[in-house]
Amino acid sequence: MRIILLGAPGSGKGTQAKKLVEKYHVPQISTGDLLRAAVAAGTPLGQLAKSIMEAGQLVSDDIVLGMIKERLAEDDARAGFILDGFPRTLVQAQALDELLDELGWPLDGAILIDVDYEKIVRRITGRRTCRNCGQVYNVYTSPPKVEGVCDKCGGPLEQRADDTEETVRKRLQVYDQQTAPLIDYYRRQGKLHRIQGDGDIDKIFSDLCALIDTL
Ligand code: AP5
Repeated sequence: MRIILLGAPGSGKGTQAKKLVEKYHVPQISTGDLLRAAVAAGTPLGQLAKSIMEAGQLVSDDIVLGMIKERLAEDDARAGFILDGFPRTLVQAQALDELLDELGWPLDGAILIDVDYEKIVRRITGRRTCRNCGQVYNVYTSPPKVEGVCDKCGGPLEQRADDTEETVRKRLQVYDQQTAPLIDYYRRQGKLHRIQGDGDIDKIFSDLCALIDTL
Protein backbone atom coordinates (compact mmCIF):
# COMPACT_ATOMS: atom_id res chain seq x y z
CA MET A 1 0.00 0.00 0.00
CA ARG A 2 1.39 3.38 -1.03
CA ILE A 3 -0.93 6.26 -0.22
CA ILE A 4 -0.93 9.97 0.54
CA LEU A 5 -3.26 11.41 3.18
CA LEU A 6 -4.16 14.91 2.02
CA GLY A 7 -6.09 17.41 4.10
CA ALA A 8 -5.99 20.68 5.97
CA PRO A 9 -4.14 20.97 9.28
CA GLY A 10 -6.22 19.19 11.91
CA SER A 11 -8.29 17.20 9.43
CA GLY A 12 -7.25 13.99 11.18
CA LYS A 13 -4.39 12.75 8.96
CA GLY A 14 -2.14 11.79 11.87
CA THR A 15 -4.97 10.21 13.87
CA GLN A 16 -6.06 8.04 10.96
CA ALA A 17 -2.48 7.27 9.84
CA LYS A 18 -1.65 5.77 13.26
CA LYS A 19 -4.67 3.47 13.03
CA LEU A 20 -3.72 2.46 9.47
CA VAL A 21 -0.19 1.56 10.64
CA GLU A 22 -1.67 -0.91 13.14
CA LYS A 23 -3.97 -2.49 10.58
CA TYR A 24 -1.80 -2.55 7.43
CA HIS A 25 1.71 -2.73 9.00
CA VAL A 26 3.25 -0.07 6.79
CA PRO A 27 5.04 3.00 8.21
CA GLN A 28 3.48 6.43 8.63
CA ILE A 29 5.87 8.96 7.14
CA SER A 30 5.04 12.41 8.50
CA THR A 31 7.27 15.31 7.49
CA GLY A 32 5.82 17.28 10.42
CA ASP A 33 6.98 14.55 12.85
CA LEU A 34 10.41 14.35 11.19
CA LEU A 35 10.79 18.14 11.46
CA ARG A 36 9.61 18.21 15.09
CA ALA A 37 12.16 15.47 15.93
CA ALA A 38 14.91 17.63 14.35
CA VAL A 39 13.72 20.67 16.36
CA ALA A 40 13.68 18.64 19.60
CA ALA A 41 17.18 17.28 18.88
CA GLY A 42 18.44 20.81 18.15
CA THR A 43 20.10 19.77 14.85
CA PRO A 44 21.06 22.56 12.39
CA LEU A 45 18.02 21.62 10.28
CA GLY A 46 15.83 21.75 13.39
CA GLN A 47 17.15 25.19 14.33
CA LEU A 48 16.34 26.42 10.84
CA ALA A 49 12.85 24.87 10.82
CA LYS A 50 11.73 25.93 14.32
CA SER A 51 10.74 29.54 13.70
CA ILE A 52 9.23 28.74 10.28
CA MET A 53 6.97 26.09 11.83
CA GLU A 54 6.00 28.29 14.75
CA ALA A 55 4.96 30.99 12.27
CA GLY A 56 2.73 28.48 10.44
CA GLN A 57 4.75 28.74 7.22
CA LEU A 58 6.18 25.91 5.11
CA VAL A 59 9.77 24.74 5.41
CA SER A 60 11.63 24.91 2.06
CA ASP A 61 10.97 22.23 -0.56
CA ASP A 62 14.68 21.33 -0.72
CA ILE A 63 14.87 20.50 2.98
CA VAL A 64 11.67 18.47 2.99
CA LEU A 65 12.57 16.58 -0.18
CA GLY A 66 15.97 15.67 1.26
CA MET A 67 14.28 14.26 4.37
CA ILE A 68 11.76 12.27 2.36
CA LYS A 69 14.42 10.74 0.08
CA GLU A 70 16.33 9.56 3.14
CA ARG A 71 13.21 8.21 4.83
CA LEU A 72 12.00 6.30 1.73
CA ALA A 73 15.43 4.68 1.46
CA GLU A 74 14.90 2.93 4.82
CA ASP A 75 14.04 -0.77 4.67
CA ASP A 76 10.52 -0.57 6.09
CA ALA A 77 9.32 1.65 3.20
CA ARG A 78 9.68 -1.26 0.78
CA ALA A 79 6.49 -2.74 2.21
CA GLY A 80 4.63 0.49 1.44
CA PHE A 81 3.90 3.74 3.29
CA ILE A 82 1.35 6.29 4.35
CA LEU A 83 2.53 9.81 3.57
CA ASP A 84 1.11 12.28 6.10
CA GLY A 85 1.65 16.01 5.54
CA PHE A 86 3.72 15.43 2.41
CA PRO A 87 3.60 16.52 -0.38
CA ARG A 88 2.42 20.05 0.41
CA THR A 89 3.40 22.01 -2.70
CA LEU A 90 3.29 21.27 -6.43
CA VAL A 91 7.10 21.17 -6.49
CA GLN A 92 7.04 18.46 -3.78
CA ALA A 93 4.33 16.48 -5.60
CA GLN A 94 6.24 16.53 -8.88
CA ALA A 95 9.49 15.54 -7.17
CA LEU A 96 7.69 12.68 -5.40
CA ASP A 97 6.31 11.41 -8.72
CA GLU A 98 9.83 11.42 -10.19
CA LEU A 99 11.29 9.64 -7.18
CA LEU A 100 8.58 6.96 -7.13
CA ASP A 101 9.00 6.49 -10.90
CA GLU A 102 12.72 5.87 -10.41
CA LEU A 103 11.97 3.39 -7.63
CA GLY A 104 9.21 1.68 -9.65
CA TRP A 105 6.77 2.27 -6.78
CA PRO A 106 3.55 3.76 -8.20
CA LEU A 107 1.16 5.49 -5.79
CA ASP A 108 -2.13 3.74 -5.11
CA GLY A 109 -3.92 6.98 -4.38
CA ALA A 110 -4.16 10.34 -2.64
CA ILE A 111 -6.98 10.45 -0.12
CA LEU A 112 -8.39 13.82 0.87
CA ILE A 113 -9.90 14.00 4.38
CA ASP A 114 -12.55 16.72 4.16
CA VAL A 115 -13.37 18.78 7.28
CA ASP A 116 -15.04 22.13 7.87
CA TYR A 117 -12.45 24.84 8.77
CA GLU A 118 -14.30 26.18 11.83
CA LYS A 119 -14.23 22.71 13.41
CA ILE A 120 -10.52 22.53 12.70
CA VAL A 121 -9.62 25.53 14.86
CA ARG A 122 -11.31 23.95 17.90
CA ARG A 123 -9.77 20.56 17.18
CA ILE A 124 -6.25 21.88 16.88
CA THR A 125 -6.32 24.11 19.94
CA GLY A 126 -7.57 21.07 21.92
CA ARG A 127 -4.90 18.69 20.65
CA ARG A 128 -2.41 17.13 23.05
CA THR A 129 0.31 14.68 22.00
CA CYS A 130 2.32 12.18 24.05
CA ARG A 131 5.96 13.20 24.25
CA ASN A 132 7.06 9.54 24.42
CA CYS A 133 4.91 7.58 21.97
CA GLY A 134 3.22 10.27 19.83
CA GLN A 135 -0.35 9.17 20.65
CA VAL A 136 -2.75 12.03 19.85
CA TYR A 137 -5.61 13.19 22.15
CA ASN A 138 -8.08 16.02 22.21
CA VAL A 139 -9.18 17.70 25.42
CA TYR A 140 -12.67 18.30 23.93
CA THR A 141 -13.39 15.17 21.91
CA SER A 142 -10.99 12.37 22.93
CA PRO A 143 -9.38 13.20 26.28
CA PRO A 144 -7.00 10.84 28.09
CA LYS A 145 -8.35 8.97 31.13
CA VAL A 146 -6.06 10.98 33.43
CA GLU A 147 -5.47 14.62 32.49
CA GLY A 148 -2.01 15.22 31.05
CA VAL A 149 -1.04 11.52 31.01
CA CYS A 150 -0.94 9.16 27.99
CA ASP A 151 -3.33 6.17 28.27
CA LYS A 152 -0.99 4.01 26.21
CA CYS A 153 2.42 4.55 27.79
CA GLY A 154 1.95 6.87 30.78
CA GLY A 155 4.08 9.57 29.13
CA PRO A 156 3.43 13.31 29.54
CA LEU A 157 1.06 15.05 27.10
CA GLU A 158 2.12 18.30 25.49
CA GLN A 159 0.64 20.99 23.26
CA ARG A 160 2.48 21.77 20.01
CA ALA A 161 4.03 25.23 19.75
CA ASP A 162 2.17 25.87 16.47
CA ASP A 163 -1.26 24.92 17.86
CA THR A 164 -2.37 28.41 18.90
CA GLU A 165 -5.51 29.86 17.30
CA GLU A 166 -3.55 32.58 15.49
CA THR A 167 -1.07 30.11 13.99
CA VAL A 168 -3.81 27.66 13.03
CA ARG A 169 -5.52 30.38 10.99
CA LYS A 170 -2.22 31.15 9.27
CA ARG A 171 -1.67 27.42 8.57
CA LEU A 172 -5.12 27.20 6.99
CA GLN A 173 -4.30 30.14 4.72
CA VAL A 174 -1.00 28.53 3.72
CA TYR A 175 -2.88 25.27 3.07
CA ASP A 176 -5.36 27.05 0.75
CA GLN A 177 -2.61 28.80 -1.18
CA GLN A 178 0.06 26.12 -1.45
CA THR A 179 -1.41 22.69 -0.73
CA ALA A 180 -5.03 22.78 -1.95
CA PRO A 181 -3.82 22.90 -5.62
CA LEU A 182 -2.64 19.31 -5.11
CA ILE A 183 -6.28 18.20 -5.03
CA ASP A 184 -6.54 19.06 -8.70
CA TYR A 185 -3.08 17.65 -9.40
CA TYR A 186 -4.08 14.19 -8.18
CA ARG A 187 -7.57 14.45 -9.67
CA ARG A 188 -6.00 14.92 -13.12
CA GLN A 189 -3.91 11.79 -12.53
CA GLY A 190 -7.09 9.86 -11.63
CA LYS A 191 -5.64 9.21 -8.16
CA LEU A 192 -7.80 11.44 -5.97
CA HIS A 193 -10.28 9.99 -3.47
CA ARG A 194 -12.24 11.81 -0.77
CA ILE A 195 -13.61 10.83 2.58
CA GLN A 196 -15.71 12.84 5.00
CA GLY A 197 -13.56 13.70 8.03
CA ASP A 198 -16.28 14.97 10.41
CA GLY A 199 -17.76 12.70 13.04
CA ASP A 200 -16.73 9.56 14.86
CA ILE A 201 -13.03 8.68 14.47
CA ASP A 202 -13.71 4.91 14.21
CA LYS A 203 -16.42 5.43 11.59
CA ILE A 204 -14.05 7.58 9.52
CA PHE A 205 -11.43 4.86 9.90
CA SER A 206 -13.78 2.16 8.65
CA ASP A 207 -14.73 4.35 5.62
CA LEU A 208 -11.04 4.89 4.97
CA CYS A 209 -10.22 1.17 5.14
CA ALA A 210 -13.14 0.31 2.86
CA LEU A 211 -11.78 2.80 0.34
CA ILE A 212 -8.16 1.60 0.67
CA ASP A 213 -9.23 -2.00 0.10
CA THR A 214 -10.56 -1.00 -3.33
CA LEU A 215 -7.31 0.65 -4.46
P1 AP5 B 1 2.24 18.85 10.31
O1 AP5 B 1 2.74 18.20 11.52
O2 AP5 B 1 2.13 18.05 9.06
O3 AP5 B 1 0.86 19.53 10.67
P2 AP5 B 1 -0.48 19.75 9.83
O4 AP5 B 1 -0.55 19.36 8.42
O5 AP5 B 1 -0.75 21.18 10.09
O6 AP5 B 1 -1.43 18.72 10.38
P3 AP5 B 1 -1.71 18.45 11.84
O7 AP5 B 1 -0.68 17.53 12.42
O8 AP5 B 1 -1.95 19.75 12.56
O9 AP5 B 1 -3.14 17.75 11.74
P4 AP5 B 1 -3.64 16.30 11.37
O10 AP5 B 1 -4.41 16.35 10.10
O11 AP5 B 1 -2.54 15.28 11.47
O12 AP5 B 1 -4.68 16.13 12.57
P5 AP5 B 1 -4.65 15.18 13.86
O13 AP5 B 1 -4.94 13.79 13.45
O14 AP5 B 1 -3.46 15.43 14.72
O15 AP5 B 1 3.12 20.13 9.94
C1 AP5 B 1 3.52 21.06 10.90
C2 AP5 B 1 4.43 22.09 10.26
O16 AP5 B 1 5.64 21.46 9.77
C3 AP5 B 1 3.87 22.81 9.04
O17 AP5 B 1 3.06 23.93 9.41
C4 AP5 B 1 5.16 23.23 8.32
O18 AP5 B 1 5.76 24.33 8.93
C5 AP5 B 1 6.05 22.02 8.54
N1 AP5 B 1 5.92 20.99 7.48
C6 AP5 B 1 5.45 19.72 7.64
N2 AP5 B 1 5.45 19.07 6.46
C7 AP5 B 1 5.92 19.94 5.55
C8 AP5 B 1 6.12 19.85 4.15
N3 AP5 B 1 5.84 18.73 3.45
N4 AP5 B 1 6.62 20.95 3.50
C9 AP5 B 1 6.92 22.07 4.18
N5 AP5 B 1 6.74 22.23 5.51
C10 AP5 B 1 6.24 21.16 6.19
O19 AP5 B 1 -5.96 15.76 14.60
C11 AP5 B 1 -5.97 17.07 15.15
C12 AP5 B 1 -6.81 17.04 16.46
O20 AP5 B 1 -8.16 16.69 16.13
C13 AP5 B 1 -6.34 15.97 17.49
O21 AP5 B 1 -6.49 16.48 18.78
C14 AP5 B 1 -7.30 14.78 17.26
O22 AP5 B 1 -7.51 14.04 18.46
C15 AP5 B 1 -8.58 15.51 16.83
N6 AP5 B 1 -9.39 14.73 15.89
C16 AP5 B 1 -8.97 13.93 14.86
N7 AP5 B 1 -10.03 13.39 14.21
C17 AP5 B 1 -11.15 13.89 14.82
C18 AP5 B 1 -12.55 13.71 14.60
N8 AP5 B 1 -13.03 12.93 13.62
N9 AP5 B 1 -13.42 14.38 15.41
C19 AP5 B 1 -12.96 15.18 16.42
N10 AP5 B 1 -11.64 15.38 16.70
C20 AP5 B 1 -10.73 14.74 15.89
